[in-house]
Amino acid sequence: MVQGGAADEHTLRWNREAFNQVRLRPHILTDVSHIDTRVSLFGCDLPHPILLAPTAFHGMIHPRGELETVEGASAAKALLVVSSASNTRIQPIADRASGPLWFQMYVQSDRGFVTDVVREVEAAGSKALVVTVDAPVVGVRYRQMRVRFRLDKGLKLPYMYDVNRGRDSLLRGGNSRMTWDDLEWLRSITQLPILLKGVMHPDDAEKAVAAGVSGLVVSNHGGRSLDTAPSTLSALPGVVDRVQGRIPILMDGGIRRGTDILKALAFGARAVLIGRPYLHGLAVGGASGIARVTAILRDELEQAMALTGCTRLDTLDRGVLWEETAVRP
Ligand SMILES: Cc1cc2nc3c(=O)[nH]c(=O)nc-3n(C[C@H](O)[C@H](O)[C@H](O)COP(=O)(O)O)c2cc1C
Repeated sequence: MVQGGAADEHTLRWNREAFNQVRLRPHILTDVSHIDTRVSLFGCDLPHPILLAPTAFHGMIHPRGELETVEGASAAKALLVVSSASNTRIQPIADRASGPLWFQMYVQSDRGFVTDVVREVEAAGSKALVVTVDAPVVGVRYRQMRVRFRLDKGLKLPYMYDVNRGRDSLLRGGNSRMTWDDLEWLRSITQLPILLKGVMHPDDAEKAVAAGVSGLVVSNHGGRSLDTAPSTLSALPGVVDRVQGRIPILMDGGIRRGTDILKALAFGARAVLIGRPYLHGLAVGGASGIARVTAILRDELEQAMALTGCTRLDTLDRGVLWEETAVRP
């Protein structure tokens, strides 16, 4: 369930390979005795730029589900984006959080229901809504089919109206009716900043800016949606260059090392999200597993910054790359 991607998993693989194609440029004789990884996003002051991506069904990974995850996020000082397919309501998660939370939405077909969810999320103190737009239908998951994977039907999905009413299946289809009009409506009912997650093409990024969204997440759903879509690292520079700093851009997909984070930030991402790495931590060691995975990535990022002569994230640019060649998709 966690490892797999869509269809033949080309995109899943490309997300990783893209990072390996990019070479870093060592930089010598700079004072790197103090490395600062702080970043500020939508009023959230974060000690480092590693966010925990929204991922479904933590109840199948750990007996305490999202309650364990949020304790891990707190220990890791990492911002958690709570998934719409969470098995736990947001308030008990927020009660255990020591830092800010965001909530990811699959906008459901019933506007009354969506309004109630938004009010609940606001009341729980979420600082942003991350609207996932790259899964109007769920990608074909042959690996899951081969192993006869089944979701645990006993676990609750409090924010999946359509799934709960049998209109859609998490394994077969998602918010397939959503359009830009629904986004405009969503903006009209909340003051929370809205990020669009799953933007890959510069033209869509342009439309999103025009639609008034506050941020973008360049993402291909961890290679789980459209197979043979390009890697996120190769899509990132095109989106960054089109948006020209008008709104912050985040990215995810394939981040497994601190050097990957450095490369994503060098191409213009303000922060990154990790999915599978922290789910592995959750499975193996619960909250402390998440803290450990994040700490390893933080350490690696700081070392990579030092070795490329970069002491602060806001000074990081494509100059740390060996040569500014386009990444092969
Ligand atoms: C098991 C699993 C469940 C996921 N569930 C969601 C979800 O509920 N909502 C969402 O927006 N993205 C979901 N994603 C995508 C992640 O948010 C993220 O884009 C992706 O995992 C990043 O790639 P990485 O796993 O290579 O770090 C899921 C990914 C995985 C692996």
